[in-house]
Amino acid sequence: MADGEQGFGTRAIHAGQRPDPTSGAVMTPIYQTSTYVQEAVGEPRGGHEYARVTNPTRGALEGNLASLEEGRHGAAFASGMAAIEAVVKGVLSQGDHVVCGANVYGGTDRLFRTVWSRFGLDFTYVDTSDVDALSDAIRPETHLLHDLDLDSIDFVDLAVTLEERTGLRLEEEELKSIRTVQDAVEVIHGALLRRGPRPA
Ligand SMILES: Cc1ncc(COP(=O)(O)O)c(C=O)c1O
Repeated sequence: MADGEQGFGTRAIHAGQRPDPTSGAVMTPIYQTSTYVQEAVGEPRGGHEYARVTNPTRGALEGNLASLEEGRHGAAFASGMAAIEAVVKGVLSQGDHVVCGANVYGGTDRLFRTVWSRFGLDFTYVDTSDVDALSDAIRPETHLLHDLDLDSIDFVDLAVTLEERTGLRLEEEELKSIRTVQDAVEVIHGALLRRGPRPA
């Protein structure tokens, strides 16, 4: 860990939180408002307009989780299925393809097969601990890798296998930059985008 970097335990307690600006409360209060007063029409304080969009308590949780997962942003939902539904609707368009772990949660499988496949999305289920099977399943129109077996995938191996199979050239820096799952997904996604234009 580099000097000045906070460890996991410290971030678990402090990341995403700062003392409440109105009271000085060290722990983030539970804000139970649905809407927020604005200085003038279209001039919200601190960017807050409506609690479904932003809420300072939820923001603290999202910031904390983003830090622990070494991601740039966090998004918290009231249920797992709500989160999956939001990702599918927010990230995917008609014609897109999803590679999904074969042991995925049953509710997600039903959502994919019985609902989203009717809206022009295509799903391939694979054993995601198998780098060859995973590489075979990924196509130019693949825009989501869901339920990867994060404990058993060697992401550098996956990136190299994809490179070999597609004739893509990954930059040495790209491969060296893979230190976290987030890095790996970004490098793989960048490689996918270079494989060809996304269908209109
Ligand atoms: C991997 C996984 N995804 C999604 C869900 C669905 O979550 P929820 O019941 O909060 O909608 C679960 C629930 O156990 C789960 O284990």
